[in-house]
Amino acid sequence: MAASETVLRVPLGSLSQSCYYLPSFFVNSTPNLSFKPVNRNRKTVRCTNSHEVSSVSKHSFHSSNCVLKGKKFVSTICKCQKHDVEESFRSTVLPSDGLSSELKSDLDEMPLPVNGSVSSNGNAQSVGTKSIEDEAWDLLRQSVVFYCGSPIGTIAANDPNSTSVLNYDQVFIRDFIPSGIAFLLKGEYDIVRNFILYTLQLQSWEKTMDCHSPGQGLMPCSFKVKTVPLDGDDSMTEEVLDPDFGEAAIGRVAPVDSGLWWIILLRAYGKCTGDLSVQERVDVQTGIKMILKLCLADGFDMFPTLLVTDGSCMIDRRMGIHGHPLEIQALFYSALVCAREMLTPEDGSADLIRALNNRLVALNFHIREYYWLDLKKINEIYRYQTEEYSYDAVNKFNIYPDQIPSWLVDFMPNRGGYLIGNLQPAHMDFRFFTLGNLWSIVSSLASNDQSHAILDFIEAKWAELVADMPLKICYPAMEGEEWRIITGSDPKNTPWSYHNGGAWPTLLWQLTVASIKMGRPEIAEKAVELAERRISLDKWPEYYDTKRARFIGKQARLYQTWSIAGYLVAKLLLANPDAAKFLTSEEDSDLRNAFSCMLSANPRRTRGPKKAQQPFIV
Ligand code: GLC
Repeated sequence: MAASETVLRVPLGSLSQSCYYLPSFFVNSTPNLSFKPVNRNRKTVRCTNSHEVSSVSKHSFHSSNCVLKGKKFVSTICKCQKHDVEESFRSTVLPSDGLSSELKSDLDEMPLPVNGSVSSNGNAQSVGTKSIEDEAWDLLRQSVVFYCGSPIGTIAANDPNSTSVLNYDQVFIRDFIPSGIAFLLKGEYDIVRNFILYTLQLQSWEKTMDCHSPGQGLMPCSFKVKTVPLDGDDSMTEEVLDPDFGEAAIGRVAPVDSGLWWIILLRAYGKCTGDLSVQERVDVQTGIKMILKLCLADGFDMFPTLLVTDGSCMIDRRMGIHGHPLEIQALFYSALVCAREMLTPEDGSADLIRALNNRLVALNFHIREYYWLDLKKINEIYRYQTEEYSYDAVNKFNIYPDQIPSWLVDFMPNRGGYLIGNLQPAHMDFRFFTLGNLWSIVSSLASNDQSHAILDFIEAKWAELVADMPLKICYPAMEGEEWRIITGSDPKNTPWSYHNGGAWPTLLWQLTVASIKMGRPEIAEKAVELAERRISLDKWPEYYDTKRARFIGKQARLYQTWSIAGYLVAKLLLANPDAAKFLTSEEDSDLRNAFSCMLSANPRRTRGPKKAQQPFIV
């Protein structure tokens, strides 16, 4: 699509609004990446960039928000010539700690990325005698996407033999997190900094689907670097960033998790590099607040958990996880904790910080109290009275004991437990969702005892949850009529495949952070060892199928970047467990106190006189 066809849609109305809502270009405070409007008539926005990568000094940038043939199109554009990108790639992929001559010669033979992809024979090069880790690094570097010569992300999959690329040639926000962490742990910071700042620019633009706009602050699910002919000069091309906020995604799902992951990565960047200047930037602070405002906006909810549609996170297809899925709640909690650490106090943000603190306490209480499941709790549910009205109800959500699934009764070990997948009126989703449980440990949403119990559960159910390849995305799979009704007969989510009980190697990194945090790294070591038996031979699949994860997934991509990066993060953290602190959060005493106050105001499972509910401000 030629840039000349675009009609720019800079949200001019927002220019007169308070700074809070301004696109980040307009509140950017640092000189090395500055944007300013240059042509009012065409409503274009131009930016100049004296960027980190010195070899791209010839580039000029402009950013725009456009409508393409009736479809809104957001782009950030730079003009460039191909040789600059190549030069820059050569200089950027060189690790800062120097390269062995062997790796240097590999890099010389490596296909060059062109607008976010590599040539078709780029991946399957033989790794000879290299270790799995070296191979993984080579593959991760080959997945790097460049924008105007600077590395800004990694594509989702780099499978040379795949006939249908779908959107796997894009940079997904959630998929980049393990890549970003691997680069941080390796001391290669630029790509993460660029990713944070460029995705921040995408956040600020108006986006619509069929004339409806989602809330301000939404981060894209993915973006792509496109090369288009330069308007008025055929000899030149320009690169544009083309994000997808869900308006083009299968099922049109809004990526609720993107902004939450972005905050988590931003905090990890600061902790790892010691460079707090990024998080302190005015535009970055504004970006954090926009995400928070969106999440903390008043709604119809009685619960402190975030209410979302099906498929709003890693599981991005219909899987019966609409409502208050654990994964979103764990990421939400984690993002609140990280944001609280990073927000610089200023006039006008007191209300937001108060709302954040109140939500943290309420969310913490709600999840720990109502999502927790172990043998004792199952027995309580089994004996629940129903149709209880008023404040002293024990069965607050009116759960009918018949909902307890038959698989659960034998499955739950004597020792251990987990947080259920979802809680709604008269509905508990008893499935075990791995990412939500692991991130509840990492963020201290789960209590210390619960965190250990979750790991106990994983150990006790190793044969089912890990089996031949770590780690099942959820357990168990939905089958038969349940699969038909809940997934809508989704042929990709058949039992024990993909999101429906498939095994996802990327989850290794979250398992590693969680087990290191709890002082039990041997759990992750065992899982990594298991993965190493096959993952490289199998060409780094996206997911595995069957109850024991014995097959490469039916439609799994090969050379899936977050499988590669997830493995690398696990290895790097096991070698340097202290670095897990960049990702974990410890419960602070304010939260602990507020939690016990709430507990005394809401005594557990007892009947008694109504007690006054107190709002808690930390
Ligand atoms: C699939 C996954 C999603 C991931 C995307 C790109 O859609 O469900 O979580 O982000 O692939 O890898």
